[in-house]
Amino acid sequence: MEDRRARGAATTAAAGGYGTGARVFHWLVAAMVVVQIPAGIGMTSEPLAALADPLFILHKGLGSVLLLVVVGRVAWRLTHRPPPFPDFIPARERRIAHATHLVLYGLLVLMAVSGYVRTVGDGYPIELLDAIGVPTLLPFMPGMARVMLVVHQFAVVALIALVAVHVGAVLQHQLIAGNPVLERMWPPWSRGRSSEDA
Ligand code: HEM
Repeated sequence: MEDRRARGAATTAAAGGYGTGARVFHWLVAAMVVVQIPAGIGMTSEPLAALADPLFILHKGLGSVLLLVVVGRVAWRLTHRPPPFPDFIPARERRIAHATHLVLYGLLVLMAVSGYVRTVGDGYPIELLDAIGVPTLLPFMPGMARVMLVVHQFAVVALIALVAVHVGAVLQHQLIAGNPVLERMWPPWSRGRSSEDA
């Protein structure tokens, strides 16, 4: 195991980890999604009805910031090549990982956009944006808002499932196979071993 770990570490270092920008975006988005999902579930559940108002305000405000961060993250990804996969990742797994990452980006955009349209399209306020004077970008369109509510509810199930696959794959490599993949992305800033581009 030690031997494989050392080999894996050498390969990872050779392949390079992600750059600081990609790491900051990754962990920022992860932390915000970790708040968004329980807040979204909590604010729509009967047992937490007393907390619905503050949770809605938190969810809509943080979600709007997340929309901007996700757009920034996608732009970063499109302009910065990620480091190559380490040699110990087989070709089939690379294809699955690549597809998972792509769909995760798509779902994040879908979640943030559908949440925004569901809210303002139905005429509800986003208190944080109102407080800082950001105008509503869309007209009143309750039909589209209803469609986006369904999109929001289905997309979050897919998002949770894919995050589970993503985290499961990392843990399988890190803890069971002894391949140190986590350090390619952790900590949130690089320590000089990153690929130049990423
Ligand atoms: C990645 C970002 C987001 C995640 C992960 C997320 C997650 C969730 C979850 C788990 C729910 C509960 C769904 C259910 O009832 O089963 C929800 C509902 C909701 N979300 Fe989001 N959300 C995100 C972004 C946003 C944004 C940007 C807004 C608005 C600015 C928003 C507004 C809402 C609203 C209004 C509801 C309640 C829908 C209803 O039942 O009428 N969300 N969200």
